[in-house]
Amino acid sequence: MGTTKQNNTLPFQIVILLGITSFLTLNAVQHQPGHHHRRQGGVINKFMRPKLELKQCNIFQGQWVWDPSYPMYDSSKCPGIRKEFDCQKYGRPDKYYLKFRWQPDHCDLPRFDGVEFLKRMAGKKIMYVGDSLSLNNWQSLVCLLHAAVPNSNITQQQTIGGIKSWIFGDYGVSIISYPSNYLVDIESEQIGRVLKLNSLKDGNIWKDTDVLIFNTWLWWTVKGPKQSWDYIQDGTMILKDMNRMDAYRKALTTLANWWTRVECNGSDGLFKGDDACERINIRR
Ligand SMILES: *[C@@H]1O[C@H](CO)[C@@H](O)[C@H](O)[C@H]1NC(C)=O
Ligand SMILES: *[C@@H]1O[C@H](CO)[C@@H](O)[C@H](O)[C@H]1NC(C)=O
Repeated sequence: MGTTKQNNTLPFQIVILLGITSFLTLNAVQHQPGHHHRRQGGVINKFMRPKLELKQCNIFQGQWVWDPSYPMYDSSKCPGIRKEFDCQKYGRPDKYYLKFRWQPDHCDLPRFDGVEFLKRMAGKKIMYVGDSLSLNNWQSLVCLLHAAVPNSNITQQQTIGGIKSWIFGDYGVSIISYPSNYLVDIESEQIGRVLKLNSLKDGNIWKDTDVLIFNTWLWWTVKGPKQSWDYIQDGTMILKDMNRMDAYRKALTTLANWWTRVECNGSDGLFKGDDACERINIRR
């Protein structure tokens, strides 16, 4: 979500997020209080370097810090949050884990402002495409925005195929969840369910949104009864299985090619691998 348009004529922005958030979250909760309080209370310690402007700053280099002013919403008041994610309502006693904030090493991020976000995104559709990690991120954004404008006109829409939207009617902003474990297609054929590494039919639906946030990785590693396909198609070859990392790379190439074909020339792309230390910025 940290991308910016290079000029105002660009049709949309695209962000690819691949299985990274859970890793970062995991890291965060291992930190103990007392450490990493770089900015707390305005205390400047010896690790503090001069701050850069946001534009010059690599916001992905940094760490999670404990911040008592968090969380920014009460999950038990957020509408439509899935039971599994509503830990406070269902009795998790501690709140410590809710108070982490991302702190880049060389700059400060502005605090999230839900009203400002809705105003800037007025009239836009924002879509999360991916597995349950995307669902988590989608619900978080909905909760953050709901907490900012709890009494505004907020409605939910659900269409076939599990696509869910929250519409912030006063701002014309839609926050959409599009479940897709692999991003590329799975089709039922005579031989069984075929995972098609070169096919991305859903892209026809995605391309009508203004902001797209992608995520996929976890399901590529799944084998056995939970695997949701029987064969894998790579070009014209139908295989029983293949190296999963190769398959993943091919699917992402399909996504990248699709992205080039649709009207996203000139937009900033951000690609994150599944390793938090490995980052590639794709600029078109
Ligand atoms: C609330 O927003 C929805 C979706 O944009 C719209 O259809 C509806 O008319 C709005 N309701 C009111 C009371 O403004
Ligand atoms: C995107 O840029 C490429 C290379 O410059 C060009 O061939 C292609 O037609 C452009 N696509 C669109 C949709 O403008």
